[in-house]
Amino acid sequence: RVLILDDARERGSAVADIVAKAIGDGGGRTVLGLATGSSPLPAYRELIRRHRVEGLSFARVSAYLLDEYIGLPDGHPQAYREVIRREFTGQLDIDPAAVHGPDGVHPEPAKAAVDYERALRTGGPVAVQLLGIGSNGHLGFNEPGSSLRSTTRVVALTERTRQDNARFFRSLAAVPRRVITQGLGTIGRAEHLVLMAAGAGKAAAVAAALEGPLSASCPGSVLQWHPRVTVVLDEAAAAELR
Ligand code: F6R
Repeated sequence: RVLILDDARERGSAVADIVAKAIGDGGGRTVLGLATGSSPLPAYRELIRRHRVEGLSFARVSAYLLDEYIGLPDGHPQAYREVIRREFTGQLDIDPAAVHGPDGVHPEPAKAAVDYERALRTGGPVAVQLLGIGSNGHLGFNEPGSSLRSTTRVVALTERTRQDNARFFRSLAAVPRRVITQGLGTIGRAEHLVLMAAGAGKAAAVAAALEGPLSASCPGSVLQWHPRVTVVLDEAAAAELR
């Protein structure tokens, strides 16, 4: 299902409806998959509003982050565990211990990746996985060339992704070179994938992901494999769809 909504609040509301329904359907317990970056922010803002104003409770929700930079110390403002706490989970009634992410400060990152994959298998399945897409088509930090069945692992960021993310750091040099990311196969185990994208810079990646060949050269094309995907775009991000 593809929704094209130019108003960021409407995009946030459409995604919040999906998350709220999953929480309702989950009865006792719902597992959410969270992305960082700018794309999901309208959804997070709306979910925080519903929590505050409408009493939507996250008390029985657990959450798993998609990815984490390697080497950013605890409390670093751009560490994804910190970003998600600041922008989303810290403003909800979710148990902080129920918010999980790859351990970006583990002395053996490859082991931290395997541990996280195991934690996801035990704690999952993820009911709703929120996703953004990179301008090069990456999902999570699965850069072009990633195996479509990959699991959680250490990945080197491409220069393009480091440049795209440099806006969050003091300089390009400060952007970490390596991350731990859920694999494309890991992401695909979630029951419902919800991709948000806005702006002309995403148009080519969105078109390649939704309408191009299923190929590791566009990791986002794995969405075509999945039985339940909702894509929420603005007009600019949808501009190259046929
Ligand atoms: C973030 C992530 C990335 C971003 C993507 C888009 O956890 O996994 O795939 O979703 O880089 O970033 P934004 O939304 O900032 O354009």
